[in-house]
Amino acid sequence: MLRRRPRRPTRRRKSKRPAVDISITDLSKHYGKGQGRTRVLRDISLSIRSGEFVSIVGTSGSGKTTLLNIMGGLDRNYEGAVRLDEHRLEELSDKELSRLRNRKFGFVFQQFNLLDHLTAGENISLPSYFGAKPDSTAPGADERARELLQKVGLGDKTAERPPQLSGGQKQRVAIARALFHQPRIIFCDEPTGSLDRKTGLQIMKIFQDLNREEQMTLVVVTHEEHIARMASRIIRLEDGVLVADEANEPVQPDELGVLSIGNEGTL
Ligand SMILES: Nc1ncnc2c1ncn2[C@@H]1O[C@H](COP(=O)(O)OP(=O)(O)OP(=O)(O)O)[C@@H](O)[C@H]1O
Ligand SMILES: [Mg+2]
Repeated sequence: MLRRRPRRPTRRRKSKRPAVDISITDLSKHYGKGQGRTRVLRDISLSIRSGEFVSIVGTSGSGKTTLLNIMGGLDRNYEGAVRLDEHRLEELSDKELSRLRNRKFGFVFQQFNLLDHLTAGENISLPSYFGAKPDSTAPGADERARELLQKVGLGDKTAERPPQLSGGQKQRVAIARALFHQPRIIFCDEPTGSLDRKTGLQIMKIFQDLNREEQMTLVVVTHEEHIARMASRIIRLEDGVLVADEANEPVQPDELGVLSIGNEGTL
């Protein structure tokens, strides 16, 4: 009779994602040359841990977009060090940086940046076209786009094109698109800037839920104090200088007078 070997305990694969740890050291940025050279960011040091929900707030021209673009690897023209995990962004080639950006970062902008001639679903699955044959998305891409639309409460809008959608709905599509590649961090530049107050709060509620339920790391730039207060950490910029970096008890949309947020998504 064959003796059965005692079963080895199955090794559990770690399902936890590795910690995103963006760290910025002595970051400065100038625009222009010679007499016209002006410093727009000055000696900024900060780090963002995995699962944080950070807002960056400041008046117009204080350097918020400039800082976000540098953190997100969209702008490499600066002095100082920016690290993501073990990578120093300055040491990567353009190609390596864009690979890292496409895999690990999602972006949401004020103007949604959707393509009007594509459906909501196609706008979301668009990233899977890159590197693939024309007219073919990666297997499962359409299904994933549908799931993501469901998640942001737009399950019935897969076939609509952006001109048929409201501003809030467009921003939800843009959020679904940012989630497509399962990024570890989402950078948002004035995501509520084109929306009315209530719709803006609904969008922020999606971010709060993504952060709470999926530990998504979020960095949201805004000039609006009530939007900044929905994050759990607030960084303040004044004239390119980091003047405050504090933990915050996140405000809920209903505390701001929006009782029904009208989000039918699964988040
Ligand atoms: N391409 C550029 N060339 C020269 N100066 C620039 C350029 N982009 C931004 N600046 C300057 O850098 C400073 C910071 O700009 P930035 O766009 O980061 O500000 P912001 O805080 O995002 O402002 P806003 O709230 O209006 O979006 C401003 O003084 C701006 O005029
Ligand atoms: Mg800006």
